[in-house]
Amino acid sequence: MFSGARAETVAELVGTASLLDFPPGSRILDLCCGPGLFLVPLAARGHRVTGVDLSPAMLERAGTACREAGAADVELVRADMLTYVAPDSYDVILNVFTSFGYFENPDDNLQVLRNAWRSLAPGGRLLVDVMGKEVLAGWIGRPQAVDLPDGSYVVQRDTVLDSWRRLRTDWTLVRGSTARTASIRSFLYSAAELHDLFLAAGFADVECFGDFDGGPYDQTSRRLIVRGVRK
Ligand SMILES: C[S@@+](CC[C@H](N)C(=O)[O-])C[C@H]1O[C@@H](n2cnc3c(N)ncnc32)[C@H](O)[C@@H]1O
Repeated sequence: MFSGARAETVAELVGTASLLDFPPGSRILDLCCGPGLFLVPLAARGHRVTGVDLSPAMLERAGTACREAGAADVELVRADMLTYVAPDSYDVILNVFTSFGYFENPDDNLQVLRNAWRSLAPGGRLLVDVMGKEVLAGWIGRPQAVDLPDGSYVVQRDTVLDSWRRLRTDWTLVRGSTARTASIRSFLYSAAELHDLFLAAGFADVECFGDFDGGPYDQTSRRLIVRGVRK
């Protein structure tokens, strides 16, 4: 999930993608920043960057990545997206790589969008990047295994729950004769559902895209990106 190869892909994306092209010096929050893959290239482009994550281990990795890249000004905050609000503080909020829909109560997921609306300055934009329900329907059920450099491998299995409202993803790491499993449950959103959730949270000019270049969300898309503006 956080491989070196992905870090390179993200850095290239930040340098080229039109949806990630912000005016110099923008105040950008990466909500659920993980190990900081977006923080470093955004800071390198001269933006004022904040990363929020709940996991101390992720924040530590993000801090190390920023220090090693010379991005000492990046602010890192340990907080829960369910409660984090910094009123009128950001021009852009990013929530990427399926970091949305984690709460069991659907109202809590809406609350995350409401918090983002309040944390944006007027005119600011929120971008949420998830695996859209339509995209998932195209490949779910195919076994997925990833080989790791040390000879171990990870098998991912997805299970649709509650009539396509939610998804459980199980990862099994097989190393030698041992196996460890971790699971995440999250809500699934179609483009229309996430679009309407943005409207319910108060966003205007809500648009759906199929990639960070601003391509349409259609039968060829691999991601669902929804963008809304705080007017
Ligand atoms: C799939 S990872 C994506 C990380 C990062 N956005 C990226 O592109 O690499 C999801 C992240 O959300 C964080 N997270 C999970 N629940 C959270 C919460 N309630 N509040 C803040 N962060 C949370 C996890 O610690 C993890 O770093």
